[in-house]
Amino acid sequence: MSISGKKILIAISGGIAAYKIHFLIRDFVKKGAEVQVIMTPDAEQFVTKLSISTLSKKPVYTDFYSDNGTWNSHVELALWADVMIVAPCTANTLSKMVHGMCDNLVIATYMSAKCPVFIAPAMDLDMYMHPSTRKNLEMAESFGHVVIPAESGELASGLIGQGRMAEPETISNTIDHFFNSHQEAQTLQGKVVLITAGPTYEALDPVRFIGNHSSGKMGFSLAEEASKRGAKVILISGPTAQTINDKNVELHKITSAKEMLAKVFEFYDTIDIGIASAAVADYAPKEVAKEKIKKNDENLTLELVKNPDILKTMGEKKTHQFLVGFALETQNEEDNAKGKLEKKNLDMIVLNSLRDEGAGFKNDTNKIKIFTRTEKKEFDLKSKDEVAKDILNFVEAQLLK
Ligand code: C5P
Repeated sequence: MSISGKKILIAISGGIAAYKIHFLIRDFVKKGAEVQVIMTPDAEQFVTKLSISTLSKKPVYTDFYSDNGTWNSHVELALWADVMIVAPCTANTLSKMVHGMCDNLVIATYMSAKCPVFIAPAMDLDMYMHPSTRKNLEMAESFGHVVIPAESGELASGLIGQGRMAEPETISNTIDHFFNSHQEAQTLQGKVVLITAGPTYEALDPVRFIGNHSSGKMGFSLAEEASKRGAKVILISGPTAQTINDKNVELHKITSAKEMLAKVFEFYDTIDIGIASAAVADYAPKEVAKEKIKKNDENLTLELVKNPDILKTMGEKKTHQFLVGFALETQNEEDNAKGKLEKKNLDMIVLNSLRDEGAGFKNDTNKIKIFTRTEKKEFDLKSKDEVAKDILNFVEAQLLK
């Protein structure tokens, strides 16, 4: 997979090596990448916005506000990027990055970025070797960033040693290599995947609800993985602390089972795959009190009514959709799971047993068995991100049949 079509965010800080960034931008643009440049205020002493924007074909931002009064959203810039490259990265900018000293647009954008970050330091040899720089580079690496080491040679100071920013060609090759090796096969390209996730909350009164401990993690991991494989994902989630920032994932937050059902059927006709990982409350209070229910000396009896079974309804209305359900069982697990496969007209069911340590809806790990009408496969205890891969691999294999 090439760099063509990729979104590259370059952050320039104030070092003499900034002049080399012109060549890097030209190289990326020639290869078909989109390049957005942001600069620290000091970088403007070394390169002009005009020369950079002429090459990148986009306005260059140095501040949170533009002269015409528009706000340059660091969050939008950060989430737009497939990769962020800080080059040249001065000792000052490096230090601010690793310590979270957020006093300019570059650092605010960096701290909002979810994409891989590459750092090409450039400084004088003694600064480069200083224990504080060593420590800061180590910290940057511990955050998962890639440091493209400075090269040796003649420095702007006249001294000779290590500290020159890596050549644009080296930086470009590093990014090329990253895209070549990190691109997952786009096996779900063109497919629309709908995923339900998290718990539902069923209101008792304005302040109380009936809910459950579902974290939503399994559904969010599935959404991320499906997106990596090129799918368009519609993620419908009940209240959870999970977050997702992925341009292929459309997140719809709902509260109750009825709201989840309505949201699912806004999209149902358009989807190819439906995965119901939500822990939907089976019952809801018959009446929702308008005011907070007052405590008195009597016991309180609640009347609960059955909630819609979302997945069962999906199964009844199935035309072309491939449907995957989850079963969390405590007894007769396999029979119950297979029973649900039939009853809800599913193509596949994922069983996680509460008997297995580490499995279930509150943990970061899960241990699953998958059933179709004709197959059964058992998996080891894994992180939910890995389990999401197993589930989607299985779905893809079924679609090919
Ligand atoms: O019947 P049971 O609740 O055990 O079935 C679990 C499966 O059905 C899960 O995939 C869950 O997301 C889905 N479900 C649903 N709506 C309900 C109850 C369960 O979609 N009301």
